[in-house]
Amino acid sequence: MTDSHYRMPVTINNEDDNNPSNPSAGPVMTDLIVQRMSRRTALKGLLASAAVSAIGVGTGFIARPASAAMSLSFGEIPHALDENLHIPAGYTGKAILRWGDPIVAGAPDFDAETRDAAAQAQQFGYNNDFIHFCPLPEGSAASDHGLLVVNHEYTDTHMIFPGFKDAKEALAGATAEMAAYEQAAHGLSVVEIKKEGNSWAMVPGSKYNRRITLATEMEIVGPAAGHDRLKTSADASGKKVFGTMNNCAGGWTPWGTILSAEENIHQYFGGDPAGTAEAANAKRIGIKGEPSYAWGKFDARFDVTKEPNEPNRFGWIIEVDPYNPDAKPVKHTALGRFKHEAATTVINSDGRLVVYTGDDERFEYVYKYVSNGTFDPGKGRSNSDLLNDGTLHVAKFDAEGNVTWMPLVHGQGELTEANGFKSQADVLIEARRAGDLLGATKMDRPEDIETSDKTGKVYVVLTKNDKRKADDLNPVNDRAENKWGHIIEMVPPMTDGKADHAATTFTWSAFIKAGNPGDAAEGAAYGGQVTDAGWFANPDNVAFDASGRLWIATDGFPDFGVHDGLWVTETEGENRAVTRHFLGCPRGAELCGPAFTPDGKTLFVSIQHPGEEKGANFANPSTRWPDFKDGVPARPSVVAVTKDDGGEIGA
Ligand code: FEO
Ligand code: CA
Ligand code: CA
Repeated sequence: MTDSHYRMPVTINNEDDNNPSNPSAGPVMTDLIVQRMSRRTALKGLLASAAVSAIGVGTGFIARPASAAMSLSFGEIPHALDENLHIPAGYTGKAILRWGDPIVAGAPDFDAETRDAAAQAQQFGYNNDFIHFCPLPEGSAASDHGLLVVNHEYTDTHMIFPGFKDAKEALAGATAEMAAYEQAAHGLSVVEIKKEGNSWAMVPGSKYNRRITLATEMEIVGPAAGHDRLKTSADASGKKVFGTMNNCAGGWTPWGTILSAEENIHQYFGGDPAGTAEAANAKRIGIKGEPSYAWGKFDARFDVTKEPNEPNRFGWIIEVDPYNPDAKPVKHTALGRFKHEAATTVINSDGRLVVYTGDDERFEYVYKYVSNGTFDPGKGRSNSDLLNDGTLHVAKFDAEGNVTWMPLVHGQGELTEANGFKSQADVLIEARRAGDLLGATKMDRPEDIETSDKTGKVYVVLTKNDKRKADDLNPVNDRAENKWGHIIEMVPPMTDGKADHAATTFTWSAFIKAGNPGDAAEGAAYGGQVTDAGWFANPDNVAFDASGRLWIATDGFPDFGVHDGLWVTETEGENRAVTRHFLGCPRGAELCGPAFTPDGKTLFVSIQHPGEEKGANFANPSTRWPDFKDGVPARPSVVAVTKDDGGEIGA
């Protein structure tokens, strides 16, 4: 292999900014577009954005006190952008798990300078993302003792290793040892944590503590397991794979396990897919011989010229049992293969399991899976089979406010051998192409999808799409060069007062159009007047608290001169979609994984990639949060936020 396959990554922030992979025409919606055309032109949008960047935030917008009916009583923090974590007065934020903290028994302490793969495989990984709190004992609602399950999405080589000016240099200079370290810093961590008084700490060396990395053996299950397209020279069964990567957001199941979403898997594969049997499939998921990682130089399985099927073993939803450190994780192929952002489960009114999951890339789709069988609390972990037998659907949104869920079933409609789908395995491996053929609606980067237990409504978060042209709008993505993102509310039909998440038709409406409401040209829309600090851009992960309030994390707001962070709103009543600002990240970081304890008194957040900005590297991060010691790099960390009076977060 030549180094020509290892060119400058498109970005250093784990996206594929410049090259959306969806070539399909999508549904023709010209007349629909006219009906719901955005209020502004593309030209106006460009001018408006320039103004925001130049003059900063909040200009010309008058704050007013929040309504008395608001259930949130914290003192809103201002927009800012500096080296620190910001939370409201009366709250404490403590970094309880930092990159490199020893978690497995016998693990060495973090060393600021030395990078040892064997040590990292026993320590908390890099770039923590999704978080879920699993109470101990299992099945309880304990809120002072539990397991945190945390995804480690990706690594920044030039921020981790000394001596590289930027990502391009680090890619060119990477060694086999560095690749091994990066693989050990990916995956997941399971860590026991305890609350003493009002303060959380991890339990080092707990029997539950576990790292899952690129070296962890996993089983592939479901309709594509064992298919020829999943077989490699290392695995003739097509059912055994080592590891998981780019684990972004996730979810949890009613039977006590965790789901984790493999997202931007394209960037790990070197080699050239052209000329292999998987060339078109590789292209559709973004593998094009320009990886962001050098792994393929040292390990043939990450070189698609040699192992064209290896990418087919990634891009799935995986399931991990946090309560059993010996349990082998599984990859569930029935939920399809794409750049999964999250996997949110709900037990439907008829007992079937529904899983919502989005494909986070510009112009990709929103999906849901509906199991054939029904959840049985008496069956415990074997309910996992529900994820192997069911139907994946892809969403089409129309101008009348309907969402149609179209089944991705081999032999139905266009999903036939004539179109290259010989079996259901082919449909699942190439779920994107199946969605293309059914005319699914191209979205502005579907990130998290969450359901409200209180109302049954479903919230779809679209982070942004600055590649969308004015002549390519659709009813649900109606702003050209959408730099701000939006949140869609979907409403399933109600049967006997319960939401029917398995139904094939929902309704939809816009919940929030992010951006600065003080600049009319942006087309931002909230449920009422927000304060100077209450507006945001680039919603990504969201979470509901025990009171049904929606917490919105952002990824990208620094492009507007404001830290990423956390905003919160009610979803019903007078203050519906009126957001308030609760937390701000240290510069360079995005906020991920908001998660609550069952009592709502602790909020866990992931501070991901602190210090990672243009021009930053190991020696010159834009912050050294959370340690703030010379020579110690910024460390991605999980922060536990508690209220000093011991009360519910936000209330
Ligand atoms: Fe990993 Fe889509 O954020
Ligand atoms: Ca995300
Ligand atoms: Ca993101």
